[in-house]
Amino acid sequence: MKTTRQVQLDISPSRFLPENSSSISRFRTMVLTYYSEHGRDLAWRRTRDPYRILVSEIMLQQTQVERVLEKYPAFIASFPDFPSLAGAPLTDVLAVWQGMGYNRRAISLQKCARRVVEEYDGVLPQDPEILETFPGIGRATAASICAFAFNMPVVFIETNIRRVFIHFFFGDHETVDDTEILPVARQALFRQDPRTWYNALMDLGAALKKTGENPNRRSRHYTKQAAFEGSDRKIRGHILRLLLAEKHLKQKDIVEKFSDDPARIIRILDDLEAEGFITRTGSLFAIAS
Ligand code: ADE
Repeated sequence: MKTTRQVQLDISPSRFLPENSSSISRFRTMVLTYYSEHGRDLAWRRTRDPYRILVSEIMLQQTQVERVLEKYPAFIASFPDFPSLAGAPLTDVLAVWQGMGYNRRAISLQKCARRVVEEYDGVLPQDPEILETFPGIGRATAASICAFAFNMPVVFIETNIRRVFIHFFFGDHETVDDTEILPVARQALFRQDPRTWYNALMDLGAALKKTGENPNRRSRHYTKQAAFEGSDRKIRGHILRLLLAEKHLKQKDIVEKFSDDPARIIRILDDLEAEGFITRTGSLFAIAS
């Protein structure tokens, strides 16, 4: 993907005009040139298998690319296709998911696999509107799966893509709404090869983030990931790790592992049970099967 000739990318903000088709066409050329010179070679770009693309997109929703690169190969090796994931005990899925965070996604992913096997004969539907009805798949994930697995000319915005459009088209705006970005994104889309186009936008967006200023702060859709230290999320992860290691634990043994208010730990245990992560039999907790 890298060539010996490296272009110096001009990243001055607002270089392009949102309502000017020749400007949008120059933008398209710039993005594609950037990708041909600096595009990343990522494991999930070496496949067109819809299952593998789905797994990567769910992982990438809330986990950094570098971390996903570490965890993705083991997940694919353990669960290489829809039937193997659909048929696995949840304990095994959560064990392989460890280190990714936001474990709820592992449950959703398995539910997706079960639905594909049970309702779609093991074949992922090639339709963003159907995919959006699957657990854990929102509009952006449905669209990105369709772009990367099926090369469909879908129009969508996610965090990296938003950063690119805000930077290059709306650099002088105090706030930007996705409804302002969408028409530009629609016009800019490289319809001959949507897969390449979205890889390119995501790489350019990731590179822009590293330059320092985050244009997404000006987006009305910007949300910062919540702090992990002291969070319920940290305690939830800890409880699941304890149960993966010990198989069965009494409530009081779990509560004792934390210096937090016992009422908080009990409330989190209730949440985990209600969400299908764990089960309670008598006084014993275990990972749900
Ligand atoms: N973020 C979400 N999907 C991605 C992908 N396919 N490549 C890189 N970053 C992503």
